[in-house]
Formats: sequence, C-alpha cells, structure tokens
Amino acid sequence: MQKTITGFSKLSKIEKIDWLVHTYFTDSNSAKTLLKQYWNTDSKLQQLHDEFIENTISNYYLPLGVAPNFLINDTVYTIPMAIEESSVVAAASKAAKFWLDRGGFKAEVISTEKIGQVHFTFEGHPEDLKKLFENVIKTTLIIDSKDLTKNMEKRGGGILDIQLRDKTFLLDHYFQLHATFETVDAMGANFINTCLEQFATTLKREASIHLDGQLNVIMSILSNYVPNCLVRAEVSCKVEELGENGSASPMEFAEKFVQAVRIAEVEPYRAVTHNKGIMNGIDAVVLATGNDFRAVEAGIHAFASKDGRYSSLTHAKIENDMFTFWMEIPLALGTVGGLTKLHPMVKFALELLGEPSAKELMKIVAVAGLAQNFGAVKSLTTTGIQEGHMKMHLMNILNQFEATSEEKTTLVKHFKTHTVTHSSVMKALESHRK
Ligand code: MEV
Repeated sequence: MQKTITGFSKLSKIEKIDWLVHTYFTDSNSAKTLLKQYWNTDSKLQQLHDEFIENTISNYYLPLGVAPNFLINDTVYTIPMAIEESSVVAAASKAAKFWLDRGGFKAEVISTEKIGQVHFTFEGHPEDLKKLFENVIKTTLIIDSKDLTKNMEKRGGGILDIQLRDKTFLLDHYFQLHATFETVDAMGANFINTCLEQFATTLKREASIHLDGQLNVIMSILSNYVPNCLVRAEVSCKVEELGENGSASPMEFAEKFVQAVRIAEVEPYRAVTHNKGIMNGIDAVVLATGNDFRAVEAGIHAFASKDGRYSSLTHAKIENDMFTFWMEIPLALGTVGGLTKLHPMVKFALELLGEPSAKELMKIVAVAGLAQNFGAVKSLTTTGIQEGHMKMHLMNILNQFEATSEEKTTLVKHFKTHTVTHSSVMKALESHRK
C-alpha cells in the first residue's frame, strides 16, 4: 500500500485517522478505537487540544502526580509533576518531608536576563559597521521596536541592551547583534523573536543606506542558553541532624554523599546520569506548568558544560559540622502567555502553586530538581537505587500482566520481603494464579 500522501494536513481529523489506520495497521478498527478512547468526551476541550498542534489524531496521556510538604523559604508548596517514570514523585515527596523537618529549602533568583541574536554576515570594512552601529543603528533598533516593546515595558520588562559582536575569528564575515531582554513573567520567546526580526529589518535597511559592502541576515532567534537567568536552591543542616542511615553514622553518610557529588563533578559519565536525576524533578514541574522542557533541558545541559567539561549541576560540602547541598541553574520560565491560560491542567497546576510569578516558579522548579538529586544520591550511597525503584516498578510489571486488584494486593505484600525483578514478579504471579 502507498505510504506517502500529499495534502494530509487538509484532511479532516477523521479522514486523517482513516488514512493512517488503513495504511499502517493490520487491525485498523482497534487502532481507530484506541485513538478515540483517548479523546476527551467534552468536544470543546478536545478541540482545544486538537488546535495546540497540527495533524492531531488523539491525546497522549502522562500521569500528573503531586509531591506535598515542600517548604521553600517560608512557604509550603504541593508541587505538581507530570512524568511517566515510577519513583520520581515518591522520591520528591520523601526528600520534601526529610527537609521539612530540617528547616526546608532556601531558594533565590540571582538574575533574569534573556538573550536573543541576529546572526549576519558583512563583507565590508568591519570598522565602518562598528561605527555605524554605535552612531546610528543601536538607537534606531530601539526606536523601531517601540511598538513591540511598549506593553512589555509597562510590565517592567523590555530590551536591556544590544551589542554588535564581531565573530569573524570564528567564521569569515560573521557578526551578530547580541541582545538582552527582561521578559518579567513571560518566558518571552515570542516577544524576543518578534523584536529580533524587527532588528533584522532595521539592520538591513540602515546597512543598505549607509554602508558599502554586502550585509546578509542569516537568522534571528532567541537563545535557550541563559546563563544570566539563574536561580539557586539550597538545603543545609547540622551533620548530626541528617540521622543514621542503616549502619552509617550521620557523618559517614554525609561524607559519602559529598564524595558521590564530587565524583559527578569530575566524571562526565557519572555527571550525565546525576544530572538526569535532577532533570527528573525539573522536567516534571516544567511540563506540569506548561513550560518548554526542551528549552530548559538544552540550556541547563549547556550550563553544565560551561567550564569546558560536562559536570554536576549540584554541589555539596561539610564545613564546621554543617552539611550544605546546593545547585545553581539557568531557567527561562513563564507563568503568563504560552499554554498558561489555555491548558486546563496547566491552569490547575499554577493555581495549586498559588499563581506564582516566573521568579517564584524558578525557585520551585530548582528546588524540585535539588530534592530529586538529594533523594537519588541518598539512595545510591545507602540502600542502592533498585530497592525503591523496583518496588515502584512492581506496579508497572503487574499492570503489564493484567493483574487484578486482589492479585496486586497479595503481590505487593509478598514483595515487601522479596527482591523485585521482572522474572520474580512473573513467577510469583503465576504461582499465585495456580
Ligand atoms: C533515574 O531516573 C535517575 C537516577 O539514575 C539518577 C542518579 O543516578 O543520580 C537514579
């Protein structure tokens, strides 16, 4: 059967589905039924989701969980988390409770600057371009963008600075306008990109009037690397307050924990997994609050490599019998615009968090990442990760074998004292069914 199609986007939703299930599925009826099962019965709500993207054929669910008891500065939060991986919400909740009894998390926003660039080539005298930029272009860029920036300025944001950067040492004729922005409670992607496209228009016009030599705009786009949009999250307590961990004294536990973090600081193979655990917490909250987790991921991982080697995002120390564990990360988030007023679950998540400003959300997200890393490193350096992980995973395996509620209760009880593996669960279920 022909597997390519022209004009797919012009088909109705049902026509798209019909083409798809008949072209790619042996049992087209059950494929179609499945897609329909995941539609919302409220047609208005479904239409909203249909219109978020193009060629929507159904919805793709992720569980939305919550982790309560997060004390951040002086406020207690229940944090919404959208994630498919078992153990993440449980680990966050456990870490939140642990630190609730030890003074909670401290978080502060260090800076909030966003970045955008117009990349262009100029094949004339760089000095002429530089002079024109300082004397004419820079102010003209600001004046020409006034209509675009006036609302943002009313909210306390706008363009902070625009620089001309000579990058010809990297690439022949390559220059850029490097602009910084304050976007307050918006993530700012649309605002920044619109301003940048206006800058590009102005730049081309001014160059054609005043400069000899060809100026070619290559592209205008925000940067998801925001090293000056930084938030810090921290926990600390007296070492003795960390408590016993199995046979380890509080100091033994603290020292092993610090050593584990140091390993992630110096060893990229470990750092990637260590940071992945942090992203378990960060992505889940970023997603639940309707933010762009791909942008956040890209920016944070670039930041983790800022010193020339991929390294741990978190750090830990013991000083004067105090254990301190902290993280600084770049986070460009929004609590207005984008999905925030559109997606009902995002609205729910933001209300649950008390309608935070973007700065407050930065703190909450950073804390979720730090808590997740604390939970993971604590498990890794004490019981090992599999104990907790496989217990949570047990439910997934039981569901895979279509265990009934009665079977689940019996097997969960059984595996309180037995090691969970895929085959041990299968065997236990088989023998229970006999
Ligand atoms: C699993 O999703 C995350 C961990 O691997 C993180 C870590 O190793 O620190 C447990």
